[in-house]
Amino acid sequence: MTAIETATESAGWPADLLAQEFRDKRVLVTGSSRGIGAAVAAAFAQLGARVAIHGRDLAAVETVAAGMGNSVIGLAGDFADKGQTRAVVEQAIDRLGGLDVLVNNAGTMLGRVGLADIDDEFLQQQFDLNAASAVVASRVALPALIVSRGAIVNTGSISGRTGGSAGSSLYSAAKAFQASLARSLATELAPHGIRVNAVSPGTIDTDFHQRYSTPDKLSQTAARIPLKRLGTAGDCVGAYLFLASNRLAGYITGQTIEVNGGQFYN
Ligand SMILES: NC(=O)c1ccc[n+]([C@@H]2O[C@H](COP(=O)([O-])OP(=O)(O)OC[C@H]3O[C@@H](n4cnc5c(N)ncnc54)[C@H](OP(=O)(O)O)[C@@H]3O)[C@@H](O)[C@H]2O)c1
Repeated sequence: MTAIETATESAGWPADLLAQEFRDKRVLVTGSSRGIGAAVAAAFAQLGARVAIHGRDLAAVETVAAGMGNSVIGLAGDFADKGQTRAVVEQAIDRLGGLDVLVNNAGTMLGRVGLADIDDEFLQQQFDLNAASAVVASRVALPALIVSRGAIVNTGSISGRTGGSAGSSLYSAAKAFQASLARSLATELAPHGIRVNAVSPGTIDTDFHQRYSTPDKLSQTAARIPLKRLGTAGDCVGAYLFLASNRLAGYITGQTIEVNGGQFYN
């Protein structure tokens, strides 16, 4: 390729690039009634996408959806239940008229439990919610994503690499699954033009930590982070938009972006 051809290929970046990328795109963000998912869904909606948001309580999700504008619909279902996961994705595709972007974000720690106290039910619930739901959602979305040559973005976690703190073994392993799943499906789905990536948040100040971390633990963590603060849900948004954008990330698949304020380097 000549220098002129190279310059021509990289020319033409429009000032409203993100709006051009996402205007009228059909996006499902699971686990978007609050926290990281809500911030991501709101950003897609502001950029002109038609967005399905999701949580467990229909009335609560519909209230959040209404606050994000009239291009946003609310869906409800428990993602520890495969039948409900399937139904939410089917409804999203049906009501949006297809799907361009699937963000597999629903999940939570479900409690800190040491190995000796992990019973079979807790093991199953952790796996179903934090690992299997992304498989079920992606499988149901696949025919629509084949048509759109769409993108999948999974939510992993820094704990998938570090192992997390005591009592979070199953959650951390399930989050590592999200990054591995993205890497593997990237190869498998590439012939369909579907890209699959992951975002791996560090310690993000959402309701999640109100439930599972003490204020002391959080301030100690913040002090160890090179950027000297916890992340916000908004800090995570750019990575999702980037990975979902064919223009910005069209040659990126099977990757995980760490959004953690440099938390590995301490
Ligand atoms: N915060 C962090 O530091 C951090 C770090 C790494 C990864 N993550 C991951 O990022 C994702 C979002 O977390 P967040 O911090 O934004 O937490 P959050 O504020 O607690 O939001 C969690 C979202 O997942 C949904 N969800 C939880 N359990 C569900 C279930 N059984 N079925 C269906 N939906 C369910 C919640 O819906 P409801 O409103 O109905 O509960 C909510 O929309 C999760 O996958 C989490 O594991 C978070």
